[in-house]
Amino acid sequence: MRDYLRYGMVGGDLDAFIGGVHRTAISFDGRAVLTAGCFSRDVRKNKECGDFYRLDGERIYDSFEEMAARESKRADGIDFVVIVTPNNTHYQIARAFLKCGIHVLCEKPLCFTLEEACELKRLADEKHLYFAVNYSYSGTNMVKEARALITSGAIGKIINVNAEYLQEYLVDDVGKGDQKMVKLSSWRKDPEVAGISNCVGDIGSHIEHTVSYMTGLRLKRVAAALDSFGQPLDLNANILVEFDNGAHGVFSSSQVCVGHMNGLVVRIFGTEGAIEWQQENPNVLLVTMKGQPAQIYNRGMGYVSERSAQMNRLPSGHPEGLFVAFANIYKCFISTVLKTVNGQTPDAGDLDFPDLEDGICGVKFIHACVESSAKDSAWVEL
Ligand SMILES: NC(=O)c1ccc[n+]([C@@H]2O[C@H](COP(=O)([O-])OP(=O)(O)OC[C@H]3O[C@@H](n4cnc5c(N)ncnc54)[C@H](O)[C@@H]3O)[C@@H](O)[C@H]2O)c1
Repeated sequence: MRDYLRYGMVGGDLDAFIGGVHRTAISFDGRAVLTAGCFSRDVRKNKECGDFYRLDGERIYDSFEEMAARESKRADGIDFVVIVTPNNTHYQIARAFLKCGIHVLCEKPLCFTLEEACELKRLADEKHLYFAVNYSYSGTNMVKEARALITSGAIGKIINVNAEYLQEYLVDDVGKGDQKMVKLSSWRKDPEVAGISNCVGDIGSHIEHTVSYMTGLRLKRVAAALDSFGQPLDLNANILVEFDNGAHGVFSSSQVCVGHMNGLVVRIFGTEGAIEWQQENPNVLLVTMKGQPAQIYNRGMGYVSERSAQMNRLPSGHPEGLFVAFANIYKCFISTVLKTVNGQTPDAGDLDFPDLEDGICGVKFIHACVESSAKDSAWVEL
């Protein structure tokens, strides 16, 4: 019986943003070891990162194609790959590893087109491989608590959703094209690399998934107004949404809102009560039952749901944050792959990670928003 997995990473050199967050999060539970990598197309940066993690030199690869082919032939090859490259490469890299029989965890957004997304699903199904898409906020403990409360019927039938993801870091681009914070902002604003959307693709997609995860609802159609302020892609998006239960909601996604750093806020309104969760204060949930004063639920307390208690890592009052959200996604994904390689069947708790169905919904959402905005905010079905 295996008690740990070997993983490889594509992207995420030492200067990158999110690759290091993944490596740190995977290390939380000690059940997967970084064994191979192609961290950059830049040979120096690739070697620098591989050496930093003390990888065997022959497992620091010049290309992801070579990595997939060679790792799949080794008896001690990687069990899964983590894809943390910019958006335009996700499809090609994921497809290469699936074809070689290797499980995948890929960053969001999954890929550029619905056809690509469906092809990845077809390949994963055909090869019986697991595929996670890293909608990271669904790993947050109190987001799981919100999901448990909503699933239990505590706030009744959902009748309205009001959610926002506000940042300010591109406000200098409005009308000026000033390129401050080049490291974060550069490729995200390039259609060749980011895809058909910047703001909706990068952060609006997190609203779409977090709401869907909390409520179990899927989007039916959207009416969107996207603003690009003279840039090639959108920096601001106001989106009217309709869910498959008929409820409506508003998603506001922006990178030009002064005073907001990473303000993902989700408010779910039901016939019996309401729930609010704020990403920048992730350890609490505001729960208000009809006719009652508002209550603050704290992570780690005795009254939380069984699922929240299972996923708890620190005593209440000791903040868990983004690293733990990532670690919780890995906890589930690694359990799933580990059980699979040991010939066991993953249970529902193991499978509690965003998958290709979620990735496909995300791609549809981005396309529907862009199409709607181009049609003067007409309703567009997903
Ligand atoms: N889930 C989240 O909360 C979250 C947060 C940030 C970024 N992301 C996503 O993660 C991805 C990466 O974003 P980032 O901000 O870390 O970007 P980044 O530009 O900081 O890093 C990208 C890395 O990919 C490497 N790379 C590019 N092409 C490559 C190739 N063909 N082979 C090997 N390496 C290659 C680069 O050298 C770099 O190391 C994006 O898809 C983004 O949307 C998700």
